[in-house]
Amino acid sequence: MFFDEMPVAPADAILGLTAAFKADPRATKANLGVGVFMDETGRTPILDVVKRAERMLLDEETSKTYLPIAGLPEFGEAVRRFVLGDAFCDDGAHGLATAQSLGGTGALQLGAQLLRRFRPGATVWLPTPTWGNHRAIFSGAGLAVRDYPYYATDLRRVDPEALAEALATIPAGDVVLLHACCHNPTGADLDAAIWARVAATAAQAGWLPFFDFAYQGFGDGAEADRAGLLSVLRAVPEALVASSFSKNMGLYSERVGALTLVAGSAAAAEAGLSQLRRVVREIASNAQRHGGSIALKVLADPVLRADWLRELEAMRTRIVSSRAALVDGLRARVPDHDFSYLLRQKGMFSYCGLNDAQVAWLREQKAVYMVKGGRINVAGLLPGQLPYVCDSIAAALAQ
Ligand code: LMR
Repeated sequence: MFFDEMPVAPADAILGLTAAFKADPRATKANLGVGVFMDETGRTPILDVVKRAERMLLDEETSKTYLPIAGLPEFGEAVRRFVLGDAFCDDGAHGLATAQSLGGTGALQLGAQLLRRFRPGATVWLPTPTWGNHRAIFSGAGLAVRDYPYYATDLRRVDPEALAEALATIPAGDVVLLHACCHNPTGADLDAAIWARVAATAAQAGWLPFFDFAYQGFGDGAEADRAGLLSVLRAVPEALVASSFSKNMGLYSERVGALTLVAGSAAAAEAGLSQLRRVVREIASNAQRHGGSIALKVLADPVLRADWLRELEAMRTRIVSSRAALVDGLRARVPDHDFSYLLRQKGMFSYCGLNDAQVAWLREQKAVYMVKGGRINVAGLLPGQLPYVCDSIAAALAQ
């Protein structure tokens, strides 16, 4: 029998936590697991601009007929201008093409399928640690996957020497996955000087950079967050950029993202896009309308766009103050511990410094849920729960 032979798959390391959290009857429970933004009351709101865009679409839309396979060209153009900035898009140094995807994961999957077809012998190098799904996506596409050192646990930050040394030895033709900002899971980003070294190494070594840019706007701001990415793109002939509106437009379940090809010429970008269309056709047939239309509306309408950037900045500010409040709370409880590393981290996530045994203890004893490795979603810290969470983390540190 077909299904009888299948072992039951383990729960997903991140999304499985949400199910376990929901089933937990304890009143004090706190969910610092999955990366979704929450407001101070614990809601993951629909952005006001998204609601307004949806109302406009309800009035304006006249058909649900199929979209072009890779999405509307104007969607692609608007997305890459947001992701890469006008100056890069207009400087003519590269050919650019963008395909709509099923969220950031779908964008990574499109890139993985392109690699499988046109560079099947390439190894994809992932930072240690990285988002758990990266390995599954690339090895699931049949590509060899290896790791390069990124976060130095003892230093609680990136070790630039180890990183530069490792990246310099990766062969030409291989692929290097880089988190453009708000590194998931650690929150430890590269500063401008380290990005410059990465850019020089990429240019010299000849590997292909593949950026995961899922958190634009949550680090230092929508424009500032693309600085590292651009320093690499300006140094290399080619790259792939996976982006997502799950977080910065709160469109999680609408699954809206994009894969942008940065190619040596317009003709090469168009060839790449033609191959992406074949991949999309096999996976999803063609682009999904609703989420893509919302994102396009918000990006293209000047009023909605300005309001969106304000809402995005408000989310970022809440994350920054939440991080500061966590550090204050922990310092008050464990004064001899240096928590400054938490303040250096960017975006939704933090490696809070707990080991796996402490993470399991917190979940079992305190109903505080976080991802293995000690990743917490700072955007899931609610002011009302902060004292309890800080007490619990302090108790776990003493374990
Ligand atoms: C996360 O890392 O929590 C998010 O990116 C959600 C996911 O799909 O894992």
